Amino acid sequence: MSEPAGRLVQLPGIGDPSVQAPGPSRAEVADHPMRRITREVAFDPHGWGPGRAAKIAELFDGMASTWHEIAGGSGRLAAVEDALDRGGVVGGRCLELGSGTGSATALLTRRFDAVLASDLSIEMLRRAPSDVATRVWADSSRLPVRSGSVHAVVLMNMFLFRHEVERVLHQDGAVVWISSLGDRTPIYLSASDLLEALGGGWHGVAGACGESTWCVARRVRTD
Ligand SMILES: C[S@@+](CC[C@H](N)C(=O)[O-])C[C@H]1O[C@@H](n2cnc3c(N)ncnc32)[C@H](O)[C@@H]1O
Repeated sequence: MSEPAGRLVQLPGIGDPSVQAPGPSRAEVADHPMRRITREVAFDPHGWGPGRAAKIAELFDGMASTWHEIAGGSGRLAAVEDALDRGGVVGGRCLELGSGTGSATALLTRRFDAVLASDLSIEMLRRAPSDVATRVWADSSRLPVRSGSVHAVVLMNMFLFRHEVERVLHQDGAVVWISSLGDRTPIYLSASDLLEALGGGWHGVAGACGESTWCVARRVRTD
């Protein structure tokens, strides 16, 4: 059965949203530069280019040695599991974009048949485990991945490069969008913004796990 384009099903949250990991307050994050960049990348066709790529790579290279302190909370992994479970994402080939130091990658390898973990920052990738998944140093605006070849694109706290995500994703594949600090996440789009950024022809199911939020989006079937 086909679902109408843009339809978003909001599931009840699980866990305790009042238990918060360290991070910016909602007021602080509202003016965070990453918020503006996230929206420009998602909605403006000119929102990303070589200059911005170089600056973002340098920024995350500089954060790589201490990223494990930010990415260590177990609540984040519970949110990934919840998104896959309640979002109905099962098996196949997974492409993790903006995989950072690989905090979620090992979990993904237990849930998918194969995982590619990709990041723009070589210093982040260097610190990711080399024995769990294939690591790919690439800018997600130009992915070295065959069209239609992956069954899930997982993005946790990552920018949305809509055209590349659409290109590499199998017709029946899923976009798994996770914001580990919910609406306190600097690189953040709400579930409805995600569907809007993907354009017409997508529907989604959204949930919350503790303070994390997620959305699993799929193309509306036309057959
Ligand atoms: C906020 S961190 C999140 C890392 C990891 N997903 C996590 O939650 O711990 C964002 C990551 O996206 C990467 N990134 C930013 N722009 C990217 C791009 N154009 N292509 C690939 N990775 C990118 C950064 O290098 C960084 O590792």
